[in-house]
Amino acid sequence: MTLVPPHIARLVPYRPGMPVSEFERQSNIKHAIKLASNESPRGPSPKVIEAIRSEAAQLNRYPDGSTYLLRQDLAKHHEIQPTEIAVGNGSNELIDLLCRTFCAPDEDHVVFGTPSFLCYELSCRSSNLPFTAVPLRDFLSWDVGALMAAVTPQTKLLFVANPNNPTGAYVARADLETMLRETPSHVMIVVDEAYVEFPSAEDYASALTLRDLRERLIVLRTFSKAYGLAGLRVGYAVGPSSIIAFLDRTRAPFNVNTLAQVAARAALTDQEHVQEYVAMNCVERARLRDALTALGARIAPSQANFLLVRLDQRGPEAYQRLLSQGVITRQMPPPIDDWLRVSVGLPEENSRFLRAVEMLQQEGER
Ligand SMILES: Cc1ncc(COP(=O)(O)O)c(C=O)c1O
Repeated sequence: MTLVPPHIARLVPYRPGMPVSEFERQSNIKHAIKLASNESPRGPSPKVIEAIRSEAAQLNRYPDGSTYLLRQDLAKHHEIQPTEIAVGNGSNELIDLLCRTFCAPDEDHVVFGTPSFLCYELSCRSSNLPFTAVPLRDFLSWDVGALMAAVTPQTKLLFVANPNNPTGAYVARADLETMLRETPSHVMIVVDEAYVEFPSAEDYASALTLRDLRERLIVLRTFSKAYGLAGLRVGYAVGPSSIIAFLDRTRAPFNVNTLAQVAARAALTDQEHVQEYVAMNCVERARLRDALTALGARIAPSQANFLLVRLDQRGPEAYQRLLSQGVITRQMPPPIDDWLRVSVGLPEENSRFLRAVEMLQQEGER
């Protein structure tokens, strides 16, 4: 008898951006910078650090398995009910839970974009769900009509990342409204708003403001990006209480640890910290875009805290050359493997990245 079913045997592990510690173990280069995982380069709010310190002595106790206080705070923050919120070990866990909870293996179908966040596909594969990955227009901008056209009577979930990772493209409010109104009502639309804090486009709208348009709508949020808590793993889903209640049945008990819960609550109280980062990101994103364009690179228009960049060298080569200068970026899978994704860092990190790119661009044409 085989050890695992064929769909598990076929799985390929998710490859995250390389941590600085791993890079430094493998090379002689010190003081590398990581612009690979769209993390906040500023760190968490001082209020978070204080909250974690004062909670540390209670770690002999299990966490609050219902995340009661965090859901109360989130409910107040969004002016919704606590029963409309499920908290997860990062929004990644919620993506996985949505697939496991609402879809029957081999039966129900899932739709998402490509290139988009790789975990939608990974979760489908590990739950043995058939899926359709709908190409973005020129691989860069959302094609809402094509997403809707991929829906079948079997489609249970439709994931749309807004803004999208790795392209930074967004679905404008009018298109989002059309999608929420006109997609057949049996489909649960999951709008993944991991980067919701970063858009500056005037026609960007959070799906949280459009919940009236559709019953089967889940909005995913995370504390990993603008709130700077990627290391703690906290994300949440907002949806109708009757839908959210099912996630409570399938999640692991104590899926969100104590420090994550207190940190997220403290982070919510420091919106100024978030706004400072968002403002810096907006300025630095524009600076990077302009400087890279001047260096002859191609840039995908981004509303997030990263840019998809195409340099003169082929993608894997450019990645290695930047790595040799201590700059860790993110390689992209085919068909966009000639592009790299670079997170917007602190001003000095971005300057270092630009200097490294300048050297690369000077060195050579393909
Ligand atoms: C679009 C998108 N959704 C979800 C996530 C997962 O975030 P987390 O699990 O840290 O909340 C990411 C992380 O990069 C992302 O890019």
